[in-house]
Amino acid sequence: MIAANREDELEGADVSTTPDPDVTDHETRADADAGATDGVVVRGAVGDDLGGVLSVGHRTWLATYEPIAGPEYVAMGLAKWWTSDVVTDSIRKGRTLVAVKGDDVVGVATFGPRDESFVLWKLYVLPGHHGHGIGSRLMEAVVARAVEGEHQRITLSYLEGNQQAARFYAKHGFVETHREAPGSGLPESVWMVRELDAGEPA
Ligand SMILES: CC(C)(COP(=O)(O)OP(=O)(O)OC[C@H]1O[C@@H](n2cnc3c(N)ncnc32)[C@H](O)[C@@H]1OP(=O)(O)O)[C@@H](O)C(=O)NCCC(=O)NCCS
Repeated sequence: MIAANREDELEGADVSTTPDPDVTDHETRADADAGATDGVVVRGAVGDDLGGVLSVGHRTWLATYEPIAGPEYVAMGLAKWWTSDVVTDSIRKGRTLVAVKGDDVVGVATFGPRDESFVLWKLYVLPGHHGHGIGSRLMEAVVARAVEGEHQRITLSYLEGNQQAARFYAKHGFVETHREAPGSGLPESVWMVRELDAGEPA
């Protein structure tokens, strides 16, 4: 995901480092029970995942965005969206999912509201783990959360030039709605939507 309007994810940030057990414990058990295949478990993140989530963010951001947007964009994004405070807040609100293999967090997805929309803010899998279905598993879990919340659609954006993301999202049923030009020579943000049917499997 990219820069456009990401401020919404930061709204009302609670910088406490204590995860909310009422949210995360329940979700963790449910997701682990539902998704323990191929040695990868997809579940709600808990406080102990903080370091793993940050590691995934920092490693994938550099690999993904330095070639298409440059080192300054990477530094800006990491300082804004991948700090301990931001990640902890998302975990405490039950808005971060992790894919875990053994003791390692290998993938991360975060979601949350913006106006009336359900937005998939972040979807990142460690480069060495691409192409094994982990991103798809995280996407399925995000769709399940949206369906549970009775949302009608999921929106997201990616940075123009990120062909891997473009292909992945198209394959998962997202269609482009509009583009935003951030200026300063940075690539455009490409916004997409996936409509959720009433009968969508959770
Ligand atoms: C985009 C991203 C999240 C996808 O994650 P992933 O784990 O590689 O995704 P998957 O493995 O589920 O699917 C990727 C491909 O592997 C294929 N694949 C290989 N083995 C598979 C398996 N066992 N099960 C499912 N799919 C498999 C899929 O069919 C898919 O093919 P495609 O590229 O032709 O569409 C990941 O590439 C990533 O983190 N990229 C860098 C960061 C990024 O750009 N994030 C998005 C920001 S907007």
